[in-house]
Amino acid sequence: MADVFDITIIGSGPGGYVCAIRAAQLGLKVAIVEQWPTFGGTCLNIGCIPSKAMLHASEMVEQLAHNFDNLGIEVSGAKVNLDKMMAHKDSVVKANTSGIEYLFKKNKITAFKGLGSIEALGKVKVTPEKGEPQIIETKNIIIATGSVSADLAGLKIDEKQVVSSTGALSLSKVPQSLLVIGAGVIGLELGSVWARLGAKVTVVEYLDHILPGMDKDLSKNFMRNLKKQGFDIKLSTKVTGVNKSDNGLVVTTEGAQGGSSSTIKADIVLVAIGRKAFTNGLGLENIGVELDAQGRIKTNDNYKSSVDGIYAIGDVIKGPMLAHKASEEGVVLAEILDGKKAHVNYGVIPGVVYTSPEIASVGKTEEQLKDEGIEYKVGKFPFSANGRAKAMLASDGFVKILADAKTDRVLGGHILGHGAGEIIHEIAILMEFSGAAEDLALTCHAHPTMSEAVREAALALGDGALHI
Ligand code: FAD
Ligand code: NAI
Repeated sequence: MADVFDITIIGSGPGGYVCAIRAAQLGLKVAIVEQWPTFGGTCLNIGCIPSKAMLHASEMVEQLAHNFDNLGIEVSGAKVNLDKMMAHKDSVVKANTSGIEYLFKKNKITAFKGLGSIEALGKVKVTPEKGEPQIIETKNIIIATGSVSADLAGLKIDEKQVVSSTGALSLSKVPQSLLVIGAGVIGLELGSVWARLGAKVTVVEYLDHILPGMDKDLSKNFMRNLKKQGFDIKLSTKVTGVNKSDNGLVVTTEGAQGGSSSTIKADIVLVAIGRKAFTNGLGLENIGVELDAQGRIKTNDNYKSSVDGIYAIGDVIKGPMLAHKASEEGVVLAEILDGKKAHVNYGVIPGVVYTSPEIASVGKTEEQLKDEGIEYKVGKFPFSANGRAKAMLASDGFVKILADAKTDRVLGGHILGHGAGEIIHEIAILMEFSGAAEDLALTCHAHPTMSEAVREAALALGDGALHI
């Protein structure tokens, strides 16, 4: 008689693999099914990890070009070796994906390679690329199949000239010109990579601002900064066509609300207009798992789909498409299936854009607080008044903390600046403990650190910042 697993997870991204590890730690018998040759999903293979490898390497190039001389370091003959940079990226990906393989073995998780589909309740079929399909018997099924790039109608992605983020992470040479459709996280991160390596980057955004959903103070300031970096950003504009010519692509644009059209030449077009939940091939229609209007699996507070015994987590369900959100859900669902009480605090999920300067946010934005009619106060402190930032030539940006006007409880934190993605966790932890701005203001911070700007922003919410 075949093994019966407690849990079978389809998809090994940060949602699926973390869920598998937590469930195995709790003593559950776990199987995981992955269609790709390596584990780790979008994040490790074609997302977070390779993009951060390229962002880091290209930031070094930027530092070399603009900051080294001011620091008294003269370098001659430096040049970019793109093949070597790509090899660095690939080795980082390999180290991370093989790390997951190691963790599966360590935790006695049974991994199956092949396309997973739901045959019936308690039965997952695995169809490998070669060989016979097999059936896994299981008490619970967890769908963690993630998301894929959204297409722009009428524009075919060939991953060579017209690319998604996947192609943009593997270009064989630095394009002279890159046109990015969408000023969201992917467009600005990958646009930054190629701009730093020498491409002329134009970004076409449908809305009248960049980075929708972020606090407007951050997006407005960052927009100015990007322009200084040489980005050409066309807001309230849409792409109506992309045509191939003998010397590259010709992109036609017009105002978001119509009007006259114009053309822009580009070597490469990156389509970065969002991602959509991926459920193809799972056979959900056969067993009645319901999807919402955006094609995501509908779940209740315990991540159960409309069918008992079938659960879903990560990008394939509602909420921000972030690796750590998927992993949190994975941990919590494993604990729920082990009979524990667990929940994700969706109010405290940080978001980071790994550009330069970095952008990091947690909790409510000013716009959300206004919409919700919550009375709030704002404490702000610029990095230009922070000693460490000045020493590192990193004085762009600011820390902004939003707190309840009456109770002083911190409701949101927004940082534009060097290392913002690390510093933000100070505010996240405070919020997790329902802390007040005064708690932060009373905490001694080491000097000189960028984090002192966080304390100063908290002080600004009370008697006033000290250094401004
Ligand atoms: P995924 O990581 O998408 O994994 C799903 C897995 O399921 C894949 O391996 C897929 O092959 C597999 N699968 C699908 N269907 C089947 C099937 N039928 N059978 C078997 N296997 C199947 N998020 C961040 O938080 N920080 C970042 O810095 C960041 N950077 C990003 C950069 C880029 C370029 C991109 C594209 C995304 C980035 N993200 C980032 C988003 C992040 O990658 C996703 O939020 C995260 O990967 C979602 O995890 P998941 O487990 O839900 O799904
Ligand atoms: P996004 O939702 O962040 O941005 C898409 C942008 O495209 C928006 O500004 C939108 O207004 C614009 N847009 C949509 N249709 C358009 C059109 N037809 N013409 C012009 N502009 C158009 O999506 P993105 O950047 O593709 O990223 C997808 C997901 O991946 C995000 O949800 C993000 O959470 C995740 N991600 C996270 C990262 C991080 O945490 N650092 C890094 C990269 C991706």
